[in-house]
Amino acid sequence: MEYLKFCFVFSCWIKFANSVYSTDAPKSPAPVPKEKLLVLTVATEETDGFRRFMQSANYFNYTVKVLGMGEAWKGGDVGRSIGGGQKVKLLKKAMEDLADQEDLVVLSVDSYDLIFAGGPEEILRKFQQANHKVLFAAEGLIWPDKRLSDKYPSVRSGKRYLNSGGIIGYAPYINRIVSQWNLHDNDDDQLFYTKIYLDPLQRETLNMTLDHKCQIFQNLNGAVDEVLLKFGTGRVRVRNTAYDSLPVVVHGNGNTKMYLNYLGNYVPNAWNYEHGCSHCDDDVVDLSQLKEYPNVLVGVFIEQPTPFLPEFFQRLLTLDYPKDKLKIFVHNNEVYHEKHIQRFWEENRNVFSSFKVVGPEENLSQGEARNMGMDLCRKDATCDYYFSIDSDVMLTNRQTVKLLIEQNRKIIGPLVTRHSKLWSNFWGALSLDGYYARSEDYVDIVQRKRVGVWNIPYMAHVYLVKGSVLRNELKERNYFVLEKLDPDMALCRNAREMTSHREKDSPSPESFHMLRPPKGVFMYITNRHDFGRLISTANYNISHYNNDLWQIFENPVDWKEKYIHQNYTRIFTENFLEQPCPDVFWFPVFSVKACDEIVEEMEHYGSWSGGKHEDKRISGGYETVPTDDIHMKQIGFDKEWLHFIREFISPVTLKVFSGYYTKGYAIMNFVVKYTPERQAYLRPHHDSSTFTINIALNNKDTDFQGGGCRFHRYNCSIESPRKGWSFMHPGRLTHLHEGLPTTNGTRYIAVSFIDP
Ligand SMILES: *[C@@H]1O[C@H](CO)[C@@H](O)[C@H](O)[C@H]1NC(C)=O
Ligand SMILES: *[C@@H]1O[C@H](CO)[C@@H](O)[C@H](O)[C@H]1NC(C)=O
Ligand SMILES: *[C@@H]1O[C@H](CO)[C@@H](O)[C@H](O)[C@H]1NC(C)=O
Ligand SMILES: *[C@@H]1O[C@H](CO)[C@@H](O)[C@H](O)[C@H]1NC(C)=O
Ligand SMILES: *[C@@H]1O[C@H](CO)[C@@H](O)[C@H](O)[C@H]1NC(C)=O
Ligand SMILES: *[C@@H]1O[C@H](CO)[C@@H](O)[C@H](O)[C@H]1NC(C)=O
Ligand SMILES: *[C@@H]1O[C@H](CO)[C@@H](O)[C@H](O)[C@H]1NC(C)=O
Repeated sequence: MEYLKFCFVFSCWIKFANSVYSTDAPKSPAPVPKEKLLVLTVATEETDGFRRFMQSANYFNYTVKVLGMGEAWKGGDVGRSIGGGQKVKLLKKAMEDLADQEDLVVLSVDSYDLIFAGGPEEILRKFQQANHKVLFAAEGLIWPDKRLSDKYPSVRSGKRYLNSGGIIGYAPYINRIVSQWNLHDNDDDQLFYTKIYLDPLQRETLNMTLDHKCQIFQNLNGAVDEVLLKFGTGRVRVRNTAYDSLPVVVHGNGNTKMYLNYLGNYVPNAWNYEHGCSHCDDDVVDLSQLKEYPNVLVGVFIEQPTPFLPEFFQRLLTLDYPKDKLKIFVHNNEVYHEKHIQRFWEENRNVFSSFKVVGPEENLSQGEARNMGMDLCRKDATCDYYFSIDSDVMLTNRQTVKLLIEQNRKIIGPLVTRHSKLWSNFWGALSLDGYYARSEDYVDIVQRKRVGVWNIPYMAHVYLVKGSVLRNELKERNYFVLEKLDPDMALCRNAREMTSHREKDSPSPESFHMLRPPKGVFMYITNRHDFGRLISTANYNISHYNNDLWQIFENPVDWKEKYIHQNYTRIFTENFLEQPCPDVFWFPVFSVKACDEIVEEMEHYGSWSGGKHEDKRISGGYETVPTDDIHMKQIGFDKEWLHFIREFISPVTLKVFSGYYTKGYAIMNFVVKYTPERQAYLRPHHDSSTFTINIALNNKDTDFQGGGCRFHRYNCSIESPRKGWSFMHPGRLTHLHEGLPTTNGTRYIAVSFIDP
């Protein structure tokens, strides 16, 4: 279309002028009609790569003839060693029938690692422009025989060497080339074509040349830096920036399969800015149409102390999936977590179809444990899916397992990311030597600016694998002890992948246990939904009693979810707070868990002050209104507590004492214990604070009787404190107050004197 518009304005006039006035100008031949292009490819198996090739061919309406499907492959391990002769043999046979079709153009291409980026008309036009009978793909690296280098015609600009992954030519000429084949299946096809091309006589009589400037064929090997994605409306192409060409056939030869996978996430129409993902809903499974849900083995891996483990298990329990279709396998490497698993097991052992735990006493390495989990599914013919999840994955989407199954891929993981970080559970690219590399689209995928199902080279932490794939493509066991590498090689590779983690947004250090796709199997990550997050296991100090309380810095989202009252945010949205006495505000702040764990933590520490006037913990060493208490500082919780005040109390202060901006600073932060046996009440006093918070940590009537607080100036008492709710009142001058006697049981409150 663009050409036509331009043509009308300017270029046709020139052409017209040329043909009228200049009789020497070569007449351009009539275009070959697209029906006269036949694509021949050799594929012995329908791999994921083959399906992708066919998808792109069908999109452009190429006529494709597949040779060799279902035959055993005898052409050697193409790409590593020489081989590929079987391809030439099959092509030779196919060409015998086509040899006399003079106007037929044959395009012979590889298919496992190749994508079409343009259509038949374009290829034919470019082929005609090349003005030769046969055109081979070119590349900058010579293979397989470097000694032939000198025999190649020199080129001023462009790729010099032949690559046999792409050949286009008139049928009789292609036939004259391949009919010369009389070698073995595992002899090298590229060497065969190279020798014919390098023979000057044949080069001339067969009218052969190379596509030096990637007009048609883009080989990626050695050229990754030359190509870019070019987004258009509707279609996405690859642009070669070295020759400013838009190649039609993109070939991930050599070590560039991963890069081709990346390009294939877009080219020719897989994803673009206008319509997003166009194949995401292809071949999906409709679970509602199945008689029964598939059986899923869930492998849970607790390889290091992990914060919020009880919550992790709770989320497993609330997955929206029939529990009788779930079997659970847990590998727990941490003695610390045995109590959590024990508790979960006792309460839920009968919920699932089965529940198996391998504990730290087995002394399994992480790799061995992961092999064991995967093997349990592999060996069980009724296991339809294996869902592997590490304890640091907080799945907030209850539909996750269903959504992954519906996507119907061999291996697929849900995108999970570290809160407000670029850290995620996949790698978008590998550098050529296998190090972590950031793909151009990594950040957009992590931030869900590009949404789809992405073919990627590595993932970890959480993924779903089809049981049938474990029993076929992935049937080799021992997947996690670094395949067949001997221990030294494994160690090197491990170390190498560790070093790449210095980059601050690269994924977790246990990348050694990242899942890599086996040869030929595509592995996907989906970010079509919000699935959940990765929590941080760094800096998790397990020497306290309730260690998650300390996670306010490292995992703020999970901390808030666990410890902040469900109705806290309603303070701001719905004015959800009360004023029981003048300028005494009352609002929910702590969850029941927060209250219980703080009390437990204090009782575990156990050194209550006894309510004496002499107090070495404070400056001056004398307390006029002493309570029986423990300071936050004594349990090493002062930094976390002050952070809590700034994050959760300051906003309330600003709301109720508008215009007052608290510094959120406090020296006196403590838990008080009132009990008739020790100290039952506190006489009237002022606090040395601008304002005070006083949070009830347990329940009147169930845990104690009596208690409460009285403000003298207003003759106002609050006798039924609520667990998790805080009072906030001015400390000096106006709010003389007392702690009313606790008559039975034990009452706990947490108090801070803020802005002293
Ligand atoms: C392929 O053929 C179909 C059906 O004839 C047509 O709708 C479609 O536009 C063609 N695709 C291209 C890329 O030309
Ligand atoms: C190759 O063939 C084209 C026509 O397809 C012709 O114009 C050109 O001269 C030929 N080149 C040689 C070197 O024979
Ligand atoms: C656990 O295994 C490691 C390495 O396999 C070994 O060094 C260690 O002694 C084992 N520990 C126990 C308690 O068996
Ligand atoms: C862990 O906490 C304990 C108790 O508060 C403390 O003594 C220790 O230094 C902490 N360890 C680290 C690594 O912070
Ligand atoms: C939050 O408030 C609602 C009433 O508005 C109440 O039903 C619910 O129990 C409250 N949540 C908690 C944890 O107290
Ligand atoms: C304080 O309030 C109580 C009832 O709430 C009342 O009986 C008492 O007289 C009041 N005292 C003063 C000094 O107002
Ligand atoms: C004190 O509490 C205990 C249980 O906490 C209860 O058995 C007892 O009856 C209570 N005593 C009074 C006087 O309320």
